[in-house]
Amino acid sequence: MDKNLYAHHMATLCRRYDEILEQSGFETLNVFSGAPRMQFLDDNYYPFKVNPHFKALVPITDNPHSWVIYQRGQKPKLLFYRPVDFWHYVPPAPQTFWSDFYDIELLSKPADAQAFLSPENAAFIGESEKLQGWSLGEENPELLINRLHWARAYKTPYEVACLREANRIAINGHRAAEQAFRSGASEFEINQAYLGAAGQGENRMPYGNIVALNEHAAILHYTHLSTERLTEPQLKSFLIDAGADCNGYCSDITRTYAYADNEFAELVTAMDEKQLQLVDGLKPGLPYPELHRQCHLSVGELLAQFDIIKTSAESAVESGLTRPFLPHGLGHFLGLQVHDVGGHQTGPDGGTTPPPAEYPFLRTSRTIEENQVFTIEPGLYFIDSLLGELKDSDLAAEVNWNKVDSFRPYGGVRIEDNIVVHATGNENLSRNP
Ligand code: GLY
Ligand code: MN
Ligand code: MN
Repeated sequence: MDKNLYAHHMATLCRRYDEILEQSGFETLNVFSGAPRMQFLDDNYYPFKVNPHFKALVPITDNPHSWVIYQRGQKPKLLFYRPVDFWHYVPPAPQTFWSDFYDIELLSKPADAQAFLSPENAAFIGESEKLQGWSLGEENPELLINRLHWARAYKTPYEVACLREANRIAINGHRAAEQAFRSGASEFEINQAYLGAAGQGENRMPYGNIVALNEHAAILHYTHLSTERLTEPQLKSFLIDAGADCNGYCSDITRTYAYADNEFAELVTAMDEKQLQLVDGLKPGLPYPELHRQCHLSVGELLAQFDIIKTSAESAVESGLTRPFLPHGLGHFLGLQVHDVGGHQTGPDGGTTPPPAEYPFLRTSRTIEENQVFTIEPGLYFIDSLLGELKDSDLAAEVNWNKVDSFRPYGGVRIEDNIVVHATGNENLSRNP
């Protein structure tokens, strides 16, 4: 990564933190990377997941017991944990594109951090379970955290570069996954192919990979990874939702494939066109829920076009008929966390705007602005439980149930890209990298 880009990023970050600390009445911020967690009645740890507020300040995702001490107007201090330990890997002292921007102290014991922490006018951000008796400052002040979350929606060019790279890595994985699917691999094997091509392990993935053959595509967060190999005519469809990591930033990409050239393949192509139209609809000034409504209209059009419903798209949106076919939101903020924070915030100082009552799972109620990064992920699924409820409802007569049954074995379709809203137009990070 380019050092000048990081210098620019740090300058922006320091300006933001200085201003937010001043507004919030703090001089110092003590941010803890986290402590490993032991499994119940065991001597093995859960995979380590870093405090997102720590990786927001320094691109380290895999080192527990470390700290960033941020004092207003001063160069940030990094307390980097380097124990003497013959059981575990000990990372070298940082010497990379970002290391000049911190005063770095090496800690050989977790408790040594206490000597550097100043609780005076300080706020602490992190989990304090393993820090009982330490003087940390005010723990996780809500207003301060709200302001930091609000600011995280506006990405710097360095952050966009990380997201771009996280997409490039994921795209390599997606290509390998499609090939594995075409050659008859099991979900488990496809996932291995994905991880191998991405060059990242399971614990580094920003979320559990969704690798779903056939009707499994109708399970929105399917992470089971069956080892069963399917062959034609049993093998019908493949939905994969998988990302990658770059310096703590996430990608989140979904593709759907048909095994044969059939009506489901046509549905995938038609959804792809609708998805690209929705990407074009992402424009500064538009409330994101408006685009979500347009997405339901698009899904209504597909349902009508493929003869799945007997009414118009408009009437299907109006009556709620599109909802069982698309129960999730159009998309969300993306950044250091896959569902990045702040999507429902009304302003930096608190308050949230809930999603529209009829779309409770929409993660973004904010108005679209420049330098924000969103996913756009319309879907259309054949979910037994939701279709069962629909069949028992007043809307049942508006559905072509034979057609629904013919699509059930395919599970469903979702296409998801990651989009940067620039002043000059949108950049789709997930296509043509
Ligand atoms: N992979 C989770 C999501 O698309 O939101
Ligand atoms: Mn996804
Ligand atoms: Mn997503």
